[in-house]
Amino acid sequence: MDHVLQLRDLIEERCGLHFDDGQRASLAASLEARMQQLGLERVDDYYAKLLNAGGTPSAEAEFRQLVNLVTITETCFFRDAAQFRMLREQILPELMQKSPKTVRIWSAGCSSGEEAYSIALTLWEMGAYLAYPDCKFEIVGTDINTAVLEAARTGAYCVRALRNVDGSLLKRHFQQDGGQFVLDEEIRRRVAFEQGNLTQMPMPSTGVQDVVFCKNVAIYFKPDIALRLVQGLHDTIAEGGYLLLGHAESLWQVSDGFELVGHSGAFCYRKGKRALAPVSIASLERGTRRLSPDASSEQYDDCLAAFRAGEWDEAEAGLRALLRSAPTFAPARLLLGGVYAHSGRYDEAADEAESLLKLSDLEARAHLLLGMVASRQHRVDHAMQSLRRALYLDDSLALAHFWLGNLYRDRGDLVRACHEYDSVVRDWDRHTLDLTEEFASDLTVEQIVGFCRDSSHRLQRQGEVAGTWP
Ligand SMILES: C[S@@+](CC[C@H](N)C(=O)[O-])C[C@H]1O[C@@H](n2cnc3c(N)ncnc32)[C@H](O)[C@@H]1O
Repeated sequence: MDHVLQLRDLIEERCGLHFDDGQRASLAASLEARMQQLGLERVDDYYAKLLNAGGTPSAEAEFRQLVNLVTITETCFFRDAAQFRMLREQILPELMQKSPKTVRIWSAGCSSGEEAYSIALTLWEMGAYLAYPDCKFEIVGTDINTAVLEAARTGAYCVRALRNVDGSLLKRHFQQDGGQFVLDEEIRRRVAFEQGNLTQMPMPSTGVQDVVFCKNVAIYFKPDIALRLVQGLHDTIAEGGYLLLGHAESLWQVSDGFELVGHSGAFCYRKGKRALAPVSIASLERGTRRLSPDASSEQYDDCLAAFRAGEWDEAEAGLRALLRSAPTFAPARLLLGGVYAHSGRYDEAADEAESLLKLSDLEARAHLLLGMVASRQHRVDHAMQSLRRALYLDDSLALAHFWLGNLYRDRGDLVRACHEYDSVVRDWDRHTLDLTEEFASDLTVEQIVGFCRDSSHRLQRQGEVAGTWP
């Protein structure tokens, strides 16, 4: 077997990180870099080095070095402003109502500490440390990567990491040192950092947590490992405690053990009284065929082909038949909604979307369908809310960006319109664009991308000529 593949499997087995075939080249490059440092020429020698002394301190140290090289550690302060607003306006006030002696907050997969320090800054700025002097606020950041933890402890950051920190906050809490900004000791001492592997629960050692941030970590895991992680986090969180995930991860079907809580455009999960019901791994697979994976895909594909060919009556009849045998098969319900929307039967389209949302609040495409319907009915505020919700849950939905861009353009908000159009073009360039096949029968992906590219250029020129472009 190819030794790069063996190493890939070893990394996945020990720390959950999954490298698909498309990421193999970057994995091989990381391995090469490490082998060069060690003066090794062949991957099998490196593999043997990791395995031969398996379990010995030197093999473990070498594995840590490897993990430091292959983990993706991109992060910044206040990465998701809406979630931090939710922490400030809803979660923390609610927790403090119970006059707790200790509040524990865990940044799981904290990278170089920006998330954990953003939590401490939020508490500080709310005046929590002064208002509740008898309460111990314990914030812990953990990561598998020892290099980023070392960086976290120094508290020194470049401008890029601080791009979401507003000027006055920066002035109040950071000291400039050359090209870097060092966070004040007063905030730094509020956070502890520990090394730990999230595939080995329970952790961290401090025990039950009131709030867990586990954002942009499990997207790199295979669904079964992500599922185990969610179950582990559920066990770690106190009754009534909160779990905050990243955008892409919100698609997990975690709502059985948690209730979904929304607050001005942000979502998170509150641990409920019910135990976490076992969830099928297939339901965690990214994509639309989640709610009933065993439903007939072939029948669905025929309906989709009919829809694309403009044979809507045939598509509708096929989908109705399919839904009679598999009523929770999300793609069929969405496609039926698409058929209704395209034929101007907006209320029926909205009903299909609503019935899906009753099954899972997290079905981004159902929010998209509601947004499209509301746009066509000129219910602009509703449309914007649904489209934003769709994008909150799945930022790659090209049609949601496209429709939202059109709504901003119609309102004369050229900057926001361009931002939405540019997202489509950027995702297309990065090959991460999701066209949402259920609704795009009359537009090809090239047409949508071309429209967005042209519109963005045109609106920007228009803004420049009018002198309104920032
Ligand atoms: C993309 S960063 C996310 C940082 C931060 N949570 C955020 O959203 O900005 C992902 C982090 O997860 C860490 N990580 C990956 N696998 C892990 C594991 N098995 N256990 C603990 N941390 C892990 C990586 O080292 C990396 O620092």
